[in-house]
Amino acid sequence: MKVLVTGGAGYIGSITSHLLSQNGCEIVVVDNLSNGHREALPADKTVFRECDLLDAEELNRIFQNENPEAVIHFAGLIQVGESIQQPLKYYQNNVGGTLNLLSAMKRSGCRRIVFSSSAAVYGNPFTIPINEGELLKPVNPYGHSKQMAEQLLIDSQQSGDLNFFSLRYFNAAGAEYGIGESHSPETHLIPLALHAIQTGKPLSLYGNDYPTPDGTCIRDYIHVGDLAHAHWQALQSLKKRPESHFYNVGTGSGNSVLEIIHSIEDVTGEKVPVEIKPRRAGDPERLVADNHAIQSRLGWAPQKSLNDIVQSAWEWEQTKKF
Ligand code: UFG
Repeated sequence: MKVLVTGGAGYIGSITSHLLSQNGCEIVVVDNLSNGHREALPADKTVFRECDLLDAEELNRIFQNENPEAVIHFAGLIQVGESIQQPLKYYQNNVGGTLNLLSAMKRSGCRRIVFSSSAAVYGNPFTIPINEGELLKPVNPYGHSKQMAEQLLIDSQQSGDLNFFSLRYFNAAGAEYGIGESHSPETHLIPLALHAIQTGKPLSLYGNDYPTPDGTCIRDYIHVGDLAHAHWQALQSLKKRPESHFYNVGTGSGNSVLEIIHSIEDVTGEKVPVEIKPRRAGDPERLVADNHAIQSRLGWAPQKSLNDIVQSAWEWEQTKKF
């Protein structure tokens, strides 16, 4: 299968590209390299096209030349805080970029897409674990932009243009194929806690007065390799059956910030220096996936533990080249 991967030079995109390549897919990566790394791409069977999704003309040319059978759409801006400061940038990139992509797909007759959505579409959910039927009430422009992109998919599907899988990620973490997180700036807990060990500069712990057992926020941390597998299984399903689905991709269990810190201390044998800070704006106290839908309908199940996540992230931080 020939698959066009937007954002394929980024963290989750490049790891998924490696997995697809290993499974015999031809990959066309489209990435503007604003956050991606060329070095992260698989060497074999991968064509790289440096292109911004806002450049509709170039995107159309790429689709005409490459004629992919399916798309995996990772490209997008991901920082919740920045989205509050610069909402229009988020709508332009995440919604406008998706619009251009779907238009290029329609013109070239490409009818299958797997989309990187986010637990951010749920905002502060009423029930934990969260299932896909939960009311969508994003609490920041990033979450709204993902929900709007999902709406573009729904409407395109209803007009008969395509079928989609929208995968709502929980907290992706860890490393695979020698690739780990390398965001600039880094905002995620696990890499920042590891950086705190390496630099001695304390990790800011945003709030220890939440109504959770130890007072810190709970998240569902999913190994990036497991997440990549969910995309591969979604692609295979789309190829077999013209159906559209929304699936949570998480492990179904949560860990608090303090539990993550303790797990990091166990794996590294080092103390994480910590400074307690006020709550970070917009952080829900608890986000844990109900993953029964993807488990039962796609046969996907997470294989990796929290220890695997931390171990692989630590190896990456000690050896990373980008
Ligand atoms: N945290 C700290 N200190 C830090 C960084 C994070 O205490 O330096 C805490 C946060 O307050 C939060 C937890 O660690 O309680 C996890 O924070 P992350 O920034 O690692 O991840 P988020 O849960 O905030 O964000 C993730 C994705 C987003 C997505 C969101 C969905 O990274 O893209 O889940 O809710 F929008």
